[in-house]
Amino acid sequence: MAATVGRVCGASILKANRGAVRHQVSTFTTASFSGWTKKRKTLFATLGIVTGGTGALLFALDYSVKASELELHPPKNPWSHSGFFASLDHNSIRRGYEVYKQVCAACHGMKYIAYRNLIGVSHTEAEAKAEAEEVQVQDGPDEAGNMYMRPGKLSDYFPNPYPNEEAARAANNGAFPPDLSYITLARHGGEDYVFALLTGYCDAPAGIVMREGQYYNPYFPGGAISMAQALYNEAIEYADGTPAYASQLAKDVCTFLKWAAEPEYDQRKLMLIKVCIDTLCLLETETVPLFMWMVIAKVLVQAQY
Ligand code: HEC
Repeated sequence: MAATVGRVCGASILKANRGAVRHQVSTFTTASFSGWTKKRKTLFATLGIVTGGTGALLFALDYSVKASELELHPPKNPWSHSGFFASLDHNSIRRGYEVYKQVCAACHGMKYIAYRNLIGVSHTEAEAKAEAEEVQVQDGPDEAGNMYMRPGKLSDYFPNPYPNEEAARAANNGAFPPDLSYITLARHGGEDYVFALLTGYCDAPAGIVMREGQYYNPYFPGGAISMAQALYNEAIEYADGTPAYASQLAKDVCTFLKWAAEPEYDQRKLMLIKVCIDTLCLLETETVPLFMWMVIAKVLVQAQY
């Protein structure tokens, strides 16, 4: 087989032909440069450096004046739930629910979260029941075929403030307030983005004119958002007495939204920690005895000689 391949491809492939290669290399590398004077070498080296440097400078200049990204990237915040061992702050989820209910729910729905989901997370069963009963839900039809309104139950989902998208747009200058159930997963930057958005309102820079019903927010793509600033210092009063600064309100509502988008967050982390501990135990039971026997064998062998 090797002989056939050798015949087809030429014996030089199978045989190491170092002499020829060395000859080729020496003629290739030295023939072109060895004749150069020192001056010529310096000239070409300088030319190379200058061309490379100019290219890099042009690239840097071009990059610095590009206006392709007009929005600010949200800074990364040290959330109490980030980190391998950290769970969500459930007091914060509870306060965040208060912020959502008293501020955001006027315009945003959360159709994937039911009142029963709050039980054991931020509220007791009785508290969640009381929360549900505060809203009116359409039900029916009754025996006469009519739809009717009734107080909410634990199984009801958070109500939508508008009956349909058209009504929502009509009330918000043509913009649609998105459902917030999965918003921290649906936006690049997650809760960092939502926090930056809620606290980042400022005056538009000179030359940028906002249309009616639009507000300047550097974190929103394009800079012009149709949601007015929703959070101010003491916009609501917390039931637990926490000072309600705008940043506190934003942090709490973001933690609440993070939980809403990933209700399994704590369980997932717990599971990961358990798997790590299990793997360590398994490794220990497998490798420690093996290591022990290796040491014993070595001692025995050494004792023999
Ligand atoms: C008065 C109505 C109103 C209130 C109150 C309100 N929003 Fe909005 N929100 C809107 C509208 C309208 C938009 C769509 C903006 C657009 O597309 O320009 C929006 C968009 C958003 C977005 C999506 C931005 C994006 O990247 O598309 C988030 C997140 C958001 N709101 C969070 C909140 C939170 C959290 C609260 C409560 C603290 C809140 N909003 C209160 C009307 C409101």
